[in-house]
Amino acid sequence: MTNRCLLRLTILLCLAGAALSVNYGVLRFQQQNSTSACQRLLRQLIRSPQHCLDDTKDFQIPEEVKQPCQVQKKEAMVVMHEMLQQIFSLFWRNFSSTGWNETIVENFLQKLHWQMDRLEEAMQEGEVPSESRTMLRLKIYYLGIVRYLKAKSYSRCAWTVVQVEILKNFSFLNGLIDALRD
Ligand SMILES: *[C@@H]1O[C@H](CO)[C@@H](O)[C@H](O)[C@H]1NC(C)=O
Ligand SMILES: *[C@@H]1O[C@H](CO)[C@@H](O)[C@H](O)[C@H]1NC(C)=O
Ligand SMILES: *[C@@H]1O[C@H](CO)[C@@H](O)[C@H](O)[C@H]1NC(C)=O
Ligand SMILES: *[C@@H]1O[C@H](CO)[C@@H](O)[C@H](O)[C@H]1NC(C)=O
Repeated sequence: MTNRCLLRLTILLCLAGAALSVNYGVLRFQQQNSTSACQRLLRQLIRSPQHCLDDTKDFQIPEEVKQPCQVQKKEAMVVMHEMLQQIFSLFWRNFSSTGWNETIVENFLQKLHWQMDRLEEAMQEGEVPSESRTMLRLKIYYLGIVRYLKAKSYSRCAWTVVQVEILKNFSFLNGLIDALRD
């Protein structure tokens, strides 16, 4: 065995060690903390709740994404990351009709980003499940939300509906965070 091979093996072993040392307790706490901050920020966005009954919409939930308690840690992290990513790009869109406080939206986006970073660190060396059907359905689900916003020309009511939907998604995220229990 050449030296180079040995070196590579050592590096691999070190990385494997690093991957094993993911502290799920800390990860869970960080994700929970940030998620509840996100929920608070989202609620703050609506100063005077509006009734937007005409705009209500049922965004069809992917069947396979329904039961967080059945997913495994790695998959939970991948799904969480995808959801955070999608929510992040959603709130990059035009919300000028809403009168939302931009500082709050920015804080919200920063927290999402921070959560994604923590997840990426934890996922680094683990084998990440390839693009699964679950992921595809998640993408379709968020695409449905984007299409809806576009169709409603990013109106204030449409954003209210989406904001409420995303707020509910954070409860779902909390369920996934629970799946990181040791
Ligand atoms: C929990 O979140 C709050 C802000 O929402 C932050 O000030 C605090 O540092 C966080 N705690 C930890 C341990 O991350
Ligand atoms: C953002 O949406 C508003 C209506 O909600 C529209 O008047 C404005 O042109 C849009 N801006 C951009 C950059 O698309
Ligand atoms: C926006 O929110 C920030 C933080 O909560 C607050 O300090 C600021 O006064 C708000 N700005 C407006 C225009 O309401
Ligand atoms: C989004 O929120 C709904 C509640 O309206 C929930 O049933 C669903 O599981 C959430 N979807 C995702 C992808 O988390």
